[in-house]
Amino acid sequence: MRRKTDLTWSDVTPKSLWLSRRGLLAGAGGLALGAGALAGPAAARIEAAKSPLSTDEAPNSFEDITTYNNFYEFGTDKGDPAANAAALTTDPWAIEIGGMVDRPGTYDLADVVKGQPIEERIYRFRCVEAWSMVVPWIGFSLSGLLNRVGVQSGARYVAFETLVRPEEMPGQTRPILDWPYREGLRLDEAMHPLTILATGLYGEEMPKQNGAPIRLVVPWKYGFKSIKSIVKISLVADQPQTTWNMLQPSEYGFYSNVNPQVDHPRWSQASERRIGAGIFAGRQDTLMFNGYADQVASLYAGQDLAKDF
Ligand code: MTE
Repeated sequence: MRRKTDLTWSDVTPKSLWLSRRGLLAGAGGLALGAGALAGPAAARIEAAKSPLSTDEAPNSFEDITTYNNFYEFGTDKGDPAANAAALTTDPWAIEIGGMVDRPGTYDLADVVKGQPIEERIYRFRCVEAWSMVVPWIGFSLSGLLNRVGVQSGARYVAFETLVRPEEMPGQTRPILDWPYREGLRLDEAMHPLTILATGLYGEEMPKQNGAPIRLVVPWKYGFKSIKSIVKISLVADQPQTTWNMLQPSEYGFYSNVNPQVDHPRWSQASERRIGAGIFAGRQDTLMFNGYADQVASLYAGQDLAKDF
């Protein structure tokens, strides 16, 4: 089933309908309805305020978002995360926050989220592989957490790491990437209001294949910057090592801002394929900073984006 692009997901899926569908499924004991489409019968709804930062483009379906994934800890095929992520233990979950902060420590997830205003952020999401989606994330601004732990004056970057647990993440039993998956942002990028820590999507707890229980979302950068299942956040002085850049620095830069004018060495970045748009939809033009130029272009004033790709 495909949606017209002039509708938002709430037009297409009234909340009451969505809730009753979910309730029905939970009542049926969470019987599987399409591989990986369910976060599980206990998936809790998250109350979230609407945000003016949301796009009015139509979100992809829950099925698209939860069955076409990149999460190499669970395998390299798009269906592997949905097939394998159920085994991941996400409760209890803690995040070690350290480096140049006033209040370092290992914080329980509930403590990380405590007091942060939870919003729905409907964002465009553009993968470096030239496909895209629109995702109704639930989360809060990373700046809220960073302000709470107190960023010290010498800190210029934020480094993130994903959990390492090969017993539950079959992809980690092979050296596909240099585990843990690592990502990083410059401090001003991390503090930007568009940058969120997402704890859910479509009004529910984050499905495991999408990076439960908490992941980064930076909508103006290629999707690989949006690191999943975060267990460590460090405030540091120097630009941190990041997974894809370590693997192939000529192809994946530290910044990785969506930029239709700077091609990947092996393919064009000028256009993208919207997942779920149907085979006759054709490709659409990729927008500078994924359409968020008005909000973020000033962060890069004076930088040569072909060099700092
Ligand atoms: N985070 C971890 N830990 N491991 C990964 O393999 N893949 C990245 C990013 N975050 C990845 C990750 C890539 S390449 C993309 S495009 C997005 O997650 C995909 O997010 P999605 O599956 O929710 O669409």
